[in-house]
Amino acid sequence: MHMTPQTPRDRLIVALDFPSADLALRHVHELQGQCLWVKVGLELYLAAGSSIITSLRERGLNVFLDLKLHDIPNTVAGAVRSASQYGANLLTIHASGGSAMLAAAAEAAATTPGAPRLVAVTVLTSMDAAQLTGTGVPDDPSTQVLRLARLATAAGIDGLVCSSAETRQLRTALPGDPLLVVPGIRPAGSAEGDQRRIATAATAIADGASMLVVGRPITQAADPAKAVEAILDEIASACQLKV
Ligand code: C5P
Repeated sequence: MHMTPQTPRDRLIVALDFPSADLALRHVHELQGQCLWVKVGLELYLAAGSSIITSLRERGLNVFLDLKLHDIPNTVAGAVRSASQYGANLLTIHASGGSAMLAAAAEAAATTPGAPRLVAVTVLTSMDAAQLTGTGVPDDPSTQVLRLARLATAAGIDGLVCSSAETRQLRTALPGDPLLVVPGIRPAGSAEGDQRRIATAATAIADGASMLVVGRPITQAADPAKAVEAILDEIASACQLKV
């Protein structure tokens, strides 16, 4: 099912975490056609509505719809069907919703024309071991990520969101060639913000990430197009090292 993305541009998703469609589309313009993938998360989706997906698709962009669905199976299946009408390419759901929810989502995607591919969020990259323990999970993040990844792939979900620290483990443990989407990317020396399990773009690619999600290091850069270029260069160098 999974095709490994080929070029550096196929592997970078810019997170459009903006409070309006105008600001998001202005930012896309500023990126000067350098990126192929953008992420619409809760902030932008709730501010701009589903028409933002159409606007981005009309500009030739692939859309990663990061709504992190987490509800009872029937509700999540319905949300997957509703999301299918807008042409988003990828949609996130929380693996911690459990195997029945994951299977219902996978079934809805498989039977709905135009459905996005589903990607299951394992443990948020903003969580460290202490925060995970606070939710009642006594294991370290990598153990919990592997547990949730197995649950999601067994339920027929196409890909996973994890941190760079877990990609090697998942590549070894999981069958096939799952799509591994990695947020928490920070250029060396840049602000970590609320993220905890972070890595540079080069490390994430070298460790087996299929695609990287990068928000603030690009959206808050003085020159966003230049920031994208630097990350694409890093991805390209890491790909060459791997060959
Ligand atoms: O600004 P920053 O690079 O931290 O943005 C990362 C983006 O990836 C955010 O939009 C966040 O919602 C998303 N994300 C994440 N961790 C996950 C899943 C998604 O940081 N596990």
